[in-house]
Formats: sequence, structure tokens, C-alpha cells
Amino acid sequence: MRILFVCLGNICRSPTVEGVARELARREAPHLQLHFDSAGTADYHVGDPPDTRSIRAALARGYDLSSLRARQLQRDDFNRFDLLLAMDEENLSNMLRIAPASHVHRARLFLDYAPGTGMASVPDPYYGDAAGFERVIDLAEHGVRGLLRDIAVAQR
Ligand code: 4NP
Repeated sequence: MRILFVCLGNICRSPTVEGVARELARREAPHLQLHFDSAGTADYHVGDPPDTRSIRAALARGYDLSSLRARQLQRDDFNRFDLLLAMDEENLSNMLRIAPASHVHRARLFLDYAPGTGMASVPDPYYGDAAGFERVIDLAEHGVRGLLRDIAVAQR
């Protein structure tokens, strides 16, 4: 199963979620054989590593994002991935605008997998302080754990 995480710039939220997903799946669910990637709906940061604030915050929590590089979401990603999970409503609606009609159902909100958080979107930390980057990791862990549980149940 192939899963793509999507935010705006692909340098803060979606690479953080990708790094958390790779690590938690490796540790807790290697048998599920999941493949993860991330992309941005915008092209501002194509080719860039994650924001240094994201790299630093994630590393302190055990997730290494340093080898990731930003890329822009493409229409073909709807053919290449089984699930495309948006960090917020605005990115979801931009994703749906380029989705082939037959694959619209593959796109949804990442935090649908973390109903206990009471949040629909992962707040964009880019213009904020360090606490925002910590919150992205908290929400990433909640969402990824919910996602892994959901997939494990579906594959049972
Ligand atoms: P991200 O955060 O979507 O979580 O990667 C942002 C990164 C860059 C910008 C906005 C949000 N920007 O405007 O450059």
C-alpha cells in the first residue's frame, strides 16, 4: 500500500508526517509493507530539504527528516498512491481540483485518522514559533498511529 502526505510547501507538515510514519511503521508494523512519500500543492520549495525548525524538532523526538526533499503534487500521484492525505481543508480542495474523477475517493484529511484530537487540520507552523513545530509532531504521531491501526484492521 502506498500513502502520500500532502501540505502546501512540503517542507514542514507533510515531511514531518512522512518521517513519523516511516519510523512508526518500521518499529510497530513492518508486516504491513507500507510505502510513504510526501508532496506540496505549491512549488515554492521544490528540491529543498525540510525547514530546519522541522528537522530539529523531529530529530529531538527520534525522527530523521534530513534526507527528504520537497516536490510538488502531480495529477499522476492519484494513480501512484492508494491514499493521499491532506494536512488541511485548503490543500484537500486544491488536491481535488487536479484529481482524476475516478480517483477522487483516494484523497482525504490526514486527521480523519485522529478523531480523538478534535482537530480537522494540522495548523501550518511556518510563520509561528517552536511550539507550532512540536504540535505538528504530536498530531503526526496521533494520525499515523490511527492510520496504522485502520490499515491493520482492514488487512486482517
Ligand atoms: P508546509 O508549511 O505547508 O507545512 O510545508 C509551509 C511552508 C512554506 C510556506 C507555507 C507553508 N511558504 O509560504 O513558503
